[in-house]
Amino acid sequence: MSGAIESILNETRLFLPPENSAACIASMEQYHALRKRFDADFSGTWGELAEQHIHWRKPFSTVLDDTDAPFFKWFADGEMNVSENCLDRHVDAGFGERTAIIWEGESGEVRQISYAALLSDVCRAANAMRELGVKKGDRVIIYMPMIPEAAVAMLACTRIGATHSVVFGAFSAHALHERIVDAGAKMIVTADGGWRRGKVHALKPSVDMALGEGSNKVEHVMVVRRGGNAVAWQEGRDVEWQQALAGQSDICEPLAVSAEHPMFILYTSGSTGSPKGIVHASGGYLLWSMLTMQWVFDFQTDSDVFWCTADIGWITGHTYSVYGPLACGGTTLMYEGVPTYPDAGRLWKICADHGVTVFYTAPTAIRALIKAGDAWPQQHDLCKLRVLGTVGEPINPEAWIWYRKMIGGERCPIVDTWWQTETGGHMISPLPFATATKPGSACLPLPGVFAEVVDAEGEPVGKGQGGLLVVSKPWPSMLRGIWGDAERYRDTYWNKFGNRYYFAGDGARTDEDGYFWIMGRVDDVLNVAGHRLGTMEIESALVSHPAVAEAAVVGRPDEIKGEAICAFVVLKSGDVESLAGELRQHVTSEIGAIAKPDEIRFTDNLPKTRSGKIMRRLLRDIAAGRDITQDISTLEDHRVIEQLQAQR
Ligand code: WT7
Repeated sequence: MSGAIESILNETRLFLPPENSAACIASMEQYHALRKRFDADFSGTWGELAEQHIHWRKPFSTVLDDTDAPFFKWFADGEMNVSENCLDRHVDAGFGERTAIIWEGESGEVRQISYAALLSDVCRAANAMRELGVKKGDRVIIYMPMIPEAAVAMLACTRIGATHSVVFGAFSAHALHERIVDAGAKMIVTADGGWRRGKVHALKPSVDMALGEGSNKVEHVMVVRRGGNAVAWQEGRDVEWQQALAGQSDICEPLAVSAEHPMFILYTSGSTGSPKGIVHASGGYLLWSMLTMQWVFDFQTDSDVFWCTADIGWITGHTYSVYGPLACGGTTLMYEGVPTYPDAGRLWKICADHGVTVFYTAPTAIRALIKAGDAWPQQHDLCKLRVLGTVGEPINPEAWIWYRKMIGGERCPIVDTWWQTETGGHMISPLPFATATKPGSACLPLPGVFAEVVDAEGEPVGKGQGGLLVVSKPWPSMLRGIWGDAERYRDTYWNKFGNRYYFAGDGARTDEDGYFWIMGRVDDVLNVAGHRLGTMEIESALVSHPAVAEAAVVGRPDEIKGEAICAFVVLKSGDVESLAGELRQHVTSEIGAIAKPDEIRFTDNLPKTRSGKIMRRLLRDIAAGRDITQDISTLEDHRVIEQLQAQR
């Protein structure tokens, strides 16, 4: 058990919400009233909210179609366009001059982009993509730094009905290749490079390498000039973004698509070696991104400056850096660089300089900044902040308290939001001006979300008991499937409880007040610095190295990253000294630096049961330096334990 979870189990403090009668949800009475509406009329309530929040081109007649469960459909015969909902309707309502995106480059340059300007950029990009052959339903990979053009590319795809798949810029060429092939992408939008830690991090060369691996259908690569680094150019295939947009009209009619039209695919890790493409649909996703912006962040579009620090390569960046804030018509902030450049005060300086009011980040970032010292936030004026959020992993109460005190000046409520790539948006979270919060708890399910903790048979466990976190009713922003793999979708999320529940893959418990405490993954998925990684994925990267016979990867508690990666490796050949570095490099080029093992321990054998199963729980104890308490009677060869322990 990690240190975070141990301290969570002993937590008893309660923080009352600040009063704010103007908040979207200003009291627990309002929260319960909304929940009751869903209890009384589930689909009617969703239908009303969808009518109110989305601009429909053609109204829907059915809210939820569950005839082919677990392949649920929402508002399926309704038609709409995502970019129109994010841009045109705000411009048409007279808010064209309002700032949509405040962007700060790592070197300090700032761009403020109004809704009118963003709309015309998106139209030009959409026209350029069309001219290059992108049609409705085609897949476009976006492999970009955190620059406004990334959001423009995403919105341009939605404007013409193309399905985007953003790949995090730190993934390697090989990982990018896998995703290009799996998605069957026709176009890639990338940049020469972006700024990170004072240097240009090149991206285009990885695209070239990925495409060099062959077996893909990519016709064009659009390249934004940002880093200014020299890049190779393939005539006919590669197109300069700035040039391509310059010649285009800034009018592009948004294409009305079904609410069920696949809006994007986002790859995430599961418990097998290959990443899965989570598919999200247009209407339901957009609806929930708006509702959660309002309920969970109390987003006030005329006065808030909202900053979610997540990269657009993750679902958090999709929902809360781009679509949620823009669909609501408010201002979102984007920052290109690393949080500690040029010093550990950068995030706080950005908050102060741009008057950020709602700030959303990950526990791992908070813990790293705690370590950097209190002097950094103290140097900056954080008085404009009014709501703070966290996401990605359980937050240890110490970090929560520091966040509240040092960043929130003891006045800002903290929303610890539990959700997943698969859920599209928040599921369990406090409401900032209604819920009394407990440090380390995600508190209560949002209205419309039916979350429960059950045992292995699917029976609800009592209050105070641990179990598996499930959701018992579909919700509009739920994943629609895994790209090209319906079987894996059923297996991973639904089969465990015979279609009765969506199985999240997390363990949780509820307390006497019904508050949820998330205990972390119960499958072979790691959470390293808020990044989700499959142990099998890292293992297959390791065994693809010619010197490796076998590998087992486990997580061990890490003070800053939450979990660190510990790999146990059996070599076929080669010497231990020289290979550790090489293997770490190898994983970096197979997956990306985020998957690089923190520790590699070499061994002659892996601990296995007599039936040949690797004893992962035992490896986790060894990696964490804990005493081994579990039964090892089924272990084939006891000497491996001593060997592995000796290597600490
Ligand atoms: C996994 C999903 C959803 C955006 C970021 C991660 C863990 C997420 C919390 C939280 C405890 C959390 C879960 C979940 N997680 N939020 N507030 N408290 N754990 O998205 O990469 O899809 O990972 O992150 O384990 O299953 P993701």
